[in-house]
Amino acid sequence: AALWLVVPAAGQGRRMGADRPKQYLEIAGRPVLACTLARLYSAFPGARLCLCLDADDARFDPAWVPFAEWRRVSGGNERVDSVSHALEAIAGEASDDDLVLVHDVARPCVTVADLERLHAALSDDPVGGLLASPVADTMKRDDGAGRVAATELRAGLWHALTPQGFRYGLLRQALAAAVKAGIPVTDEASAVETLGLSPQLVKGRRDNLKITHPEDLALARQILAAQSA
Ligand code: C5P
Repeated sequence: AALWLVVPAAGQGRRMGADRPKQYLEIAGRPVLACTLARLYSAFPGARLCLCLDADDARFDPAWVPFAEWRRVSGGNERVDSVSHALEAIAGEASDDDLVLVHDVARPCVTVADLERLHAALSDDPVGGLLASPVADTMKRDDGAGRVAATELRAGLWHALTPQGFRYGLLRQALAAAVKAGIPVTDEASAVETLGLSPQLVKGRRDNLKITHPEDLALARQILAAQSA
């Protein structure tokens, strides 16, 4: 079975408040997008890539793509729409039992070791799964007015990271069903869960952060510098 990588990179990154989408902010002179693709390539040089980019994206440079086999697909309104577009775009080529790993472009700090461990863990898993890390902080739910309404039990809670990997046929079915039912899906696993299936939690590093807020870029720079030291 073939290995596909889907990288949603069509977000505007409004929470960053930067002058450009966060995938084009720079780490050590390279855009985040190039860093993320380089990591994925180190782990999976033979994979086929689908890169979801905004149709109006004028900053993208194909020189940042190290993969031999890749295509650009246009993003949608939400992350789930971007990923769905990618799955539609490869419908003629992908087999139902091909593995698809979906990885946020905004997570350049994922390590090759975590990528390889996830891939190995999913190789014979009938459902699929995701990199995740146990929650370390005590979790509070707010009352909508800046005060604590409840304390959530931390034990057994995980941060859902990416990549998230599922068989092509299952993922396509799950995303289509979730979109049709109007269920909000912020990751692939939640769509698969709505089918009554339980994705595997593969413990990954906590520093596989998603660059979201302005302070995250400095953190990502430090993490990547420390990893290559
Ligand atoms: O906004 P957020 O950080 O949750 O986005 C996660 C990932 O999904 C990012 O890599 C972003 O570029 C991507 N995305 C997308 N299409 C959208 C919205 C987000 O590809 N419409």
